[in-house]
Amino acid sequence: MKVLITGGCGFIGSEVVRVAIEQGHEVVNLDKLTYAGNPANVADVADDPRYSFINGDIADPQIATQSVQGVEVVINLAAESHVDRSLHNPTEFIETDVVGTATLIMAAREAGVRRFVQVSTDEVYGSIPAGAFKETDPIQPSSPYSASKAGGDLQALAIHHTFGQDIVITRGSNTYGPRQYPEKLVPLFITNALDGLPLPVYGDGQQIRDWIHVRDHAEGIWHAMEHGEAGQVYNVGGGNEWPNLEITERILAHTGASDDLITYVEDRPGHDRRYALDTTKLRGMGWAPKVDFDDGLASTVEWYRERRDWWEPIKSGEYADWHAKNYAGR
Ligand code: NAD
Ligand code: DAU
Repeated sequence: MKVLITGGCGFIGSEVVRVAIEQGHEVVNLDKLTYAGNPANVADVADDPRYSFINGDIADPQIATQSVQGVEVVINLAAESHVDRSLHNPTEFIETDVVGTATLIMAAREAGVRRFVQVSTDEVYGSIPAGAFKETDPIQPSSPYSASKAGGDLQALAIHHTFGQDIVITRGSNTYGPRQYPEKLVPLFITNALDGLPLPVYGDGQQIRDWIHVRDHAEGIWHAMEHGEAGQVYNVGGGNEWPNLEITERILAHTGASDDLITYVEDRPGHDRRYALDTTKLRGMGWAPKVDFDDGLASTVEWYRERRDWWEPIKSGEYADWHAKNYAGR
């Protein structure tokens, strides 16, 4: 099968590319190569004859039309994905996560693509004090990032309803693993700990996230693509709920760094307190996460320990510039 994977030079997208290639499929990777897109993330498959790359924007109708030609399935992971950046520049998020998603779906429909998978997030449901969100729960996003992802979901569901286009949505939980851009909690804290730098814990550090390893998330997306029903949403969660401070302490233990690095900083504005997903639906279809959280975190720490060549240029370059501009003094 020929599959178009967008955002394939990003963290989760590159893992979905690997899953597809390992299963013998032909992959076209469409990626704009924003700050978060890194060709090194697909270096291991770049020379495979089944792999090809298009450098372009999903929101550009010409690029979208060109990219979907001869494609059976589209898996859309291209997105602006970082909540903190969305607080400074929400319109970029709307451009890619809403306009880009709708542009790509319409191009796929026009070209007769059999199935479109929209990769979304648990953040569209908003914060939940207790219990876990089911796919039928209303969406109530609370950051510019999650609102833009919710906009993409609504476009996808509306286009399915209106035109009958076969669309499946996945909503994943907080993902960790190798190749994650070091602005997100896990890779930022691992790389800071390895360098003896402060770990900036927002607020009281008691916010709760549900963690899933990137391989489990990628396989969950693939499973929903293969076995999901058109017009349906599937939660993809790891079932590993931890407060941020607990994650921080585990990272310190795995890296051997001192607790003194923990630094409480001003809270993220509008910070969601807790995310939790009910994954009964996808589990009922035969998917289950396999990676034990402590093993996954340990191997992730090892990856960053060994791959300074991957993250040092990022942290001294784009990330340093962005952080200095937006969080001076923190
Ligand atoms: P990422 O930021 O690591 O990668 C995003 C990729 O999309 C990059 O390669 C970037 O260059 C590309 N891209 C951005 N805008 C584009 C555009 N207009 N056209 C083409 N390519 C573009 O993101 P990620 O963490 O791998 O997330 C992938 C998807 O999964 C996103 O849709 C995100 O909302 C969703 N998601 C992420 C998580 C998580 O914890 N990281 C959890 C649940 C869902
Ligand atoms: O829940 C899924 C979402 O998870 C995805 O849709 C997003 O793309 C992904 O970025 C992630 O969003 P979060 O905001 O939960 O992830 P982040 O790694 O930015 O933060 C995780 C938690 O850690 C959150 O409560 C904020 C906190 N945090 C984060 C950073 C970067 C800190 O305390 N300090 C930090 O420096």
